Amino acid sequence: MLLSTLLWSSAAATVHASIDSVRIVRTIHKDVAIVGGGGSGAYSAVRLREDYGVSVVVIEKEIMLGGHVNTWVDPATGRGYDAGVQNYIDLANATAFFARLNVTTQANVRASPAQVYADFTTGVELTNYSPPAAADRTDALKRYLALAEQYLPVMEPGWWTFPEPVDIPADLLLPFRDFVIKHNLTAGVPQIFATTGFGIHDLLGSLTMWVMRSFNIDMVRTLLGIDAAFVPASRKNQDLYDAIQRLLGSNALLSSTVTKAERSEKGGVVLEVRSSVTGKTTRIVAKKLLFTAPPTNANMVPFDLDSIEKSVFGDFSYSATYVGVVSHPSLPANTSILNTPVAAQPANWLEAIPKAPFNTRFDNYPNSSYYRVIAVGDQTYTESQARQTIIESFDKLMAGGTITQTSPPEPLKFLSFEPHGLVSAYASREALESGFIQRLNGLQGRRSTWYTGAAWSVHISTSLWVFTDTLLLKLVASLR
Ligand SMILES: Cc1cc2nc3c(=O)[nH]c(=O)nc-3n(C[C@H](O)[C@H](O)[C@H](O)COP(=O)(O)OP(=O)(O)OC[C@H]3O[C@@H](n4cnc5c(N)ncnc54)[C@H](O)[C@@H]3O)c2cc1C
Ligand SMILES: *[C@@H]1O[C@H](CO)[C@@H](O)[C@H](O)[C@H]1NC(C)=O
Ligand SMILES: *[C@@H]1O[C@H](CO)[C@@H](O)[C@H](O)[C@H]1NC(C)=O
Ligand SMILES: *[C@@H]1O[C@H](CO)[C@@H](O)[C@H](O)[C@H]1NC(C)=O
Ligand SMILES: *[C@@H]1O[C@H](CO)[C@@H](O)[C@H](O)[C@H]1NC(C)=O
Ligand SMILES: *[C@@H]1O[C@H](CO)[C@@H](O)[C@H](O)[C@H]1NC(C)=O
Repeated sequence: MLLSTLLWSSAAATVHASIDSVRIVRTIHKDVAIVGGGGSGAYSAVRLREDYGVSVVVIEKEIMLGGHVNTWVDPATGRGYDAGVQNYIDLANATAFFARLNVTTQANVRASPAQVYADFTTGVELTNYSPPAAADRTDALKRYLALAEQYLPVMEPGWWTFPEPVDIPADLLLPFRDFVIKHNLTAGVPQIFATTGFGIHDLLGSLTMWVMRSFNIDMVRTLLGIDAAFVPASRKNQDLYDAIQRLLGSNALLSSTVTKAERSEKGGVVLEVRSSVTGKTTRIVAKKLLFTAPPTNANMVPFDLDSIEKSVFGDFSYSATYVGVVSHPSLPANTSILNTPVAAQPANWLEAIPKAPFNTRFDNYPNSSYYRVIAVGDQTYTESQARQTIIESFDKLMAGGTITQTSPPEPLKFLSFEPHGLVSAYASREALESGFIQRLNGLQGRRSTWYTGAAWSVHISTSLWVFTDTLLLKLVASLR
């Protein structure tokens, strides 16, 4: 018998026994329980079950798998609008993964709407602003790539060989602003922000190490045309995760969260999982837990962290990101209105990054009257504040004359607006210099728990899969 099942009949559990027998409708036994069914959790479930013959159950709090993808489907036309993940970078075995799930793919075609620059705090259009010339931008990105290549061995896949504190390359510990100045990367800054950098609420103040994880080597290579990107032929990025959901069937517990957990070094894990739809609780007895959601305080509460785990996760801070699809007849067709502080004029690209919290832009989807919006703030930033940021930025654009209100006036319409929870986990320079990464790695496998997800590696779905592959090898070995 597993130690973990014994744990449940121990003194602490006996207290709850009578309640448990009412609440717990069933007990299921699996090799691996996976918490979080987003980019890394859903991928892990397929690989573990199909390629390693390991039984799995996925516990996902939302009504569907897919995490950051956030595809909104227009009920009138069936067309998909991806508010989160835009495309997948074609690296390693990524296309084969789509193929095995019967999701046909095609090359990503980058839309090129007209660009309007406006300061969203005043709503005034920047008429005297020049974005970097394409050649200068390319030049800067190539320099960034050379640096990213230099640091690649310690950054990806994962931080398995990250140097001891005294040997951490000085560049990685520089605030990104200083790194940009040191290496003459200024002409690349607006593009870095617009691509993935916006996900860090203070891009220029962030340590370079965390920027290289968000704007990683594969992202630069894609922008430079060295790597390609693809999308499902349906143009709905969610299709992959819907296919995974069908494949997993009842092994994906949706609208579900862990309410209680017992984890032990040798005896596996026992979880109580509650469905917010049925209100019913399932007990899961598993040999290992694979935790893929962000390891925030709120997410870790049910997991009874010990002092070591608490101190490591306590060193993480986060940015909060919200994405949505909006429409309004006043927003111009085939145009992106980019939030650009007035101080960026005439060509101060280091000043072109808005202060958090911000809406990055109103980005017109090709051939549609819909616009993508992204609100970003620090970890205290709530969904209602984010929605307010979007509305205020729209009202300012109106007040500042960048767009003209309809008559009679209409409010901005939200077709979708979704929280991502907390993303872009980061730790301070002090933490890194006191061995944070080593302590983080030290949690892998402890108390029958393994971890993947964006907090543990890079923020690009397919690059994260490459890291996850290295992690799954260790996890599977620990089952034997
Ligand atoms: C706006 C935006 C755009 C992006 N664009 C791209 C792109 O174009 N291409 C690309 O490759 N990458 C893109 N990324 C990055 C990519 O989405 C992430 O790197 C990837 O999704 C991270 O995977 P993950 O598994 O760590 O997190 P997620 O995909 O967010 O998955 C985490 C899952 O855990 C669930 N969860 C959270 N808490 C709990 C809990 N307590 N219990 C149970 N479940 C829980 C969540 O609901 C979610 O489903 C983008 C990210 C953002 C924010
Ligand atoms: C790539 O993926 C396919 C399908 O998922 C699998 O059959 C193949 O073994 C994988 N190759 C590698 C090198 O992982
Ligand atoms: C993909 O299609 C093949 C052929 O129709 C089928 O055998 C297989 O089960 C499908 N796989 C998935 C994951 O749907
Ligand atoms: C959208 O605008 C871009 C840039 O101004 C232009 O090249 C493109 O042809 C336009 N597309 C459509 C569909 O109008
Ligand atoms: C700095 O970068 C710009 C464009 O990115 C380039 O034109 C300039 O020559 C570079 N300066 C140096 C000293 O490398
Ligand atoms: C938009 O319309 C143009 C012209 O009809 C077409 O060439 C293009 O493929 C369309 N783009 C999308 C994404 O539908």
